[in-house]
Amino acid sequence: MDVIIIDEQPHRRLSLFERLRNSDITALAVGDVTRARASCHENGGAVSVIIVGGCGAHGPVMVSQVKNEWPTLDVFATGDASDVRAAVDAVRYGAVDYFAFPTDSTALVSAVRNALERARRRPASPANGGADNELEEAITFDPATRAVFERAERAAAVDSTVLITGESGTGKEVLARHMYRRSPRRRRRFVPVNCGAVPETLIETELFGYKKGAFTGAVANGKGLIDEAEGGVLFLDEIGDMPPPMQVRLLRFLDRGEVRAVGATEVKRADVRVIAATNRCLAADIRDRRFREDLFFRLSVVSLHLPPLRERRGEILPLLSYYVRRAARRFGVDEPTIAPEAIDILHSYHWPGNIRELQNALEQAVVQQSSGAITPRDLPDRLFEPAVSAPAPRERRTPVERTDEIVVSLLRQYNGNHTETAAALGISRSTLWRRLRRINATLPEPSLPAPDSVIA
Ligand SMILES: Nc1ncnc2c1ncn2[C@@H]1O[C@H](COP(=O)(O)OP(=O)(O)OP(=O)(O)O)[C@@H](O)[C@H]1O
Ligand SMILES: [Mg+2]
Repeated sequence: MDVIIIDEQPHRRLSLFERLRNSDITALAVGDVTRARASCHENGGAVSVIIVGGCGAHGPVMVSQVKNEWPTLDVFATGDASDVRAAVDAVRYGAVDYFAFPTDSTALVSAVRNALERARRRPASPANGGADNELEEAITFDPATRAVFERAERAAAVDSTVLITGESGTGKEVLARHMYRRSPRRRRRFVPVNCGAVPETLIETELFGYKKGAFTGAVANGKGLIDEAEGGVLFLDEIGDMPPPMQVRLLRFLDRGEVRAVGATEVKRADVRVIAATNRCLAADIRDRRFREDLFFRLSVVSLHLPPLRERRGEILPLLSYYVRRAARRFGVDEPTIAPEAIDILHSYHWPGNIRELQNALEQAVVQQSSGAITPRDLPDRLFEPAVSAPAPRERRTPVERTDEIVVSLLRQYNGNHTETAAALGISRSTLWRRLRRINATLPEPSLPAPDSVIA
């Protein structure tokens, strides 16, 4: 969780929530300071920015309450463009800035993003060092995912480098943080670097740091991310996008555990565990000489592959209820149920964007619905389009079979509780009971997905 929005008007807080979500900023929207306090507590205090929305006469009071409660957080205020008094008072009471919403929303988003970046660079206290502000616990219902997580847990204690592969949105970072939290390094930092997002010219100074005078503007020594991860874990995301000259330097660092800052003559020892991830096929990149084979072997001492969501459909239902509950809590609305027809669509869609896509679709649905139930109408249009590639044979099932599976996994998810399962399905308990009796008689053994594979 990055941001809490406090605004007493639901439509205003939802619209700002959506605006942030579209910019990939995770937020929670609540109606008052008391709820904000509870949510902040639930999130282990891992919030960096609070936005006080709709500031009129009460705005400044709210800003000062928030500042009292969370003196170190950045507080932004939003309100009417014409309400100069509210703007001046909000800033006087401790807001960093005031934005007219929605007219200034682009400026607000970039201010929030800068604040989050500053927060990320602040050294974390050991208590929340690299706290995973996203997930309390990864959902791993499918045997294949379970196996990957179990292997990861066994490897967590050993200090070897790790390479995680998998399509975009399959949970590579979640798995990396899972290992970190179970490793002896959990008291130090987890430092993520997106190797694809840092410009080629900057990645060396970003990673290794620089010496005063190394280039124009280097007026003092600069720390690199490897320094920041000292004692902890450096997560090299999108490692396949790392430019070849940097691959050589990284390999040297992994082999010798030594760092030389840009412009420095001396080397320093670094105690950092590297976990790398990629959604590319590194085997092809090695063949095309875009990725060094020696670096690949050095990184993949432990190799973990996360299957795409369409190959672990058993996880879809638990993920649905997890993300609907979470979205409802975030928007401050009652948790809606999911209509069986909507479950059917969500369950059979091929999810090219994997768990991230599912999460976004559900957040959108929770915002869209107003009747207390998510229906197919509330789902994004693309879920109704046919998959581009032909579905794998095991996905081509008759609707009846699929619905039976849904019943069974919902039942499992609600720990066998018939009342809750029936409610989630929108049917009566007796219908559910008859249904289960029939399923019991017909359900085939579930086919086990392919075992965890290592990239070839
Ligand atoms: N096992 C899981 N249980 C619940 N949520 C998950 C799980 N795995 C991933 N997610 C959620 O899915 C989203 C994507 O996860 P993550 O960022 O780890 O994917 P990724 O593989 O790194 O994707 P990308 O390649 O696009 O960076 C996140 O919001 C994460 O919280
Ligand atoms: Mg990622």
